[in-house]
Amino acid sequence: MTSTDARPDRAAGLVFPPGFVFGAATAAYQIEGAVDVDGRGLSIWDTFSHTPGRTFQGHTGDVAVEHYTRYPEDVALMAELGLSAYRFSVAWSRVLPEGAGRVEQRGLDFYRRLVDELLAAGVDPWLTLYHWDLPQALQDRGGWTDRDTAARFADYAGTVHDALGDRVRHWSTLNEPMCSALLGHMSGQHAPGLRDAAAASRATHHLLLGHGLATRALRDRGADSLGITLNFTPMTPATDRPEDVDAARRLDGQQNRMFLVPVVTGAYPPDVEADLAAAGAPLPIQDGDLETIAAPLDWLGVNYYFESTVQVRDRAPDDPTHFIGGEDVVELDPEGPTTTMGWGVSPGTFTRLLGWISEQAPGLPLVITENGSAWPDEVAEDGAVHDPERTDYLLRHLEAVTDAVAAGADVRGYFAWSLLDNYEWARGYAQRFGLVHVDYDTQRRTPKDSARVYADILRRHREAQ
Ligand code: NOJ
Repeated sequence: MTSTDARPDRAAGLVFPPGFVFGAATAAYQIEGAVDVDGRGLSIWDTFSHTPGRTFQGHTGDVAVEHYTRYPEDVALMAELGLSAYRFSVAWSRVLPEGAGRVEQRGLDFYRRLVDELLAAGVDPWLTLYHWDLPQALQDRGGWTDRDTAARFADYAGTVHDALGDRVRHWSTLNEPMCSALLGHMSGQHAPGLRDAAAASRATHHLLLGHGLATRALRDRGADSLGITLNFTPMTPATDRPEDVDAARRLDGQQNRMFLVPVVTGAYPPDVEADLAAAGAPLPIQDGDLETIAAPLDWLGVNYYFESTVQVRDRAPDDPTHFIGGEDVVELDPEGPTTTMGWGVSPGTFTRLLGWISEQAPGLPLVITENGSAWPDEVAEDGAVHDPERTDYLLRHLEAVTDAVAAGADVRGYFAWSLLDNYEWARGYAQRFGLVHVDYDTQRRTPKDSARVYADILRRHREAQ
C-alpha cells in the first residue's frame, strides 16, 4: 500500500481532458428510505429484502440513509466536495406505483425538488431510469420475463422525461442489466430471486428491448445526452487448458458481450446465442427487436470494479456463483488484497478494458458511471474516517483512466461509487462504499479522507480549465 505522504503528489500527477466530468453516484433504493410515503408503490426489492434469508441479517432499504428527507444536506455535501455532476436513479414505483397507468405526482415532485437543489448548487444531474427496483405490480405479471414490461418501461421513461426533461440533460436507461437479468433470474442473489436459465434469457432480451424502446421515447422528446450503463468483469482463464479458455469465453460472453455487443452492433454474439440455445434458454428475439436495441447513443456508461479468473472444476451443483452454460465453472479467489466484498484490486485491467470497449464501440464516448471499493471504515477518535485503502483504490483507478485516455480511449467522465455509504443490496449495510461515511444510528454524514483527496483532484482539475 502507498503511504499517506505520497498521496498529494499522486493526485497532482492526474491530468484529465478539458471538460472531463467528475461526480459521484447513488441509486434510489440504496439511499432513499421513505418506502411508504407519498404514494410510493412496492418494488421487487421491498419484497425480496423482506423475505427471510435473502439479505445479510435481513437488512432492507426501508430506512437506508434517509436521503428522501435529507437530500438538501446531501446536495450541500456534493457542493462542498466540488462535484460537477451527480448520478442518481428514479424509483419507478414512486412515479407509477402500479408500474403503469396512474402517475403519482408526489413521486415526481420529489425528483423535481432534488434536481432543482442540484442545479442551484451547480451540480449537473445525471438521471438513471432503472437501477433494479421494478414495481412489484409488474413483477406479478411476469416482470422482465414478460415482453410487455419493456413497453411499460418506455412509457415510464416518457413520463419522467415529460416531468424533468426541461431541467435534466443526461439520461441513462438501465443500470447494469447483467445484474438484473442474471443475479435476479439465474443465480437468485438479487430480486426477484429466481434460479431459472430460461427466465434469465427472457429477462436479458426484454431489458435490452426496454432500453431500446425507452431510448426511442426519450429521443422523440428531444433528449440529446443518452446512454446505458453496463458493468464489465474481464475474465481470464486460470490456465491455458482448452476447457478453462472456453469457460472464460462463456462467462465473458454472458456477463459482458451479451449486453455490449447488441447495443452497439444490433446483433448478439453468435457464440453466446449458441451457448444459450444449447442450455435450453434461447433469447426470445422478434423481428425488429435488434434494430430497436441498437438505437444510437450519445455515450456508454461503464461500471468497473474487479476482474475474474475462471477455471473448470467439480463442485456442488447448487453453487449459485455460476451462470448459464457455466455449471462447471468457478471464479478463483483474487490474488493480493481484497475489499470487504472479497473483490480484488486490478487497475491495470481497467485500462485494458477501456481500450477493448473503445474497439468494440468505435466513436462512442465512454463515461465511467461507477467505480469504487468497500472497506471496513470507522469514525476514528479524531472524528475523521481514515480510509487509505479506498484512497489508494481511487487514485490507482483514476490513473488507469488517464492511461486509457493517453492510449486513445474517449473517456468523458468519472463517477465514484458511491457518494454515501448505503444499502449494498443482498450484502446489506455491512459493505461501505461511500466517499462519505454514514452512521446508521444517527444518520450523521462524515466525509472520509478519500473524499478529501477526491475533492482535491477535482479542485486542481477545475483550476486547470
Ligand atoms: C453496481 C451497482 O450498480 C451498485 O448498485 C452497487 O452498489 C455497486 N455495484 C457495488 O456493488
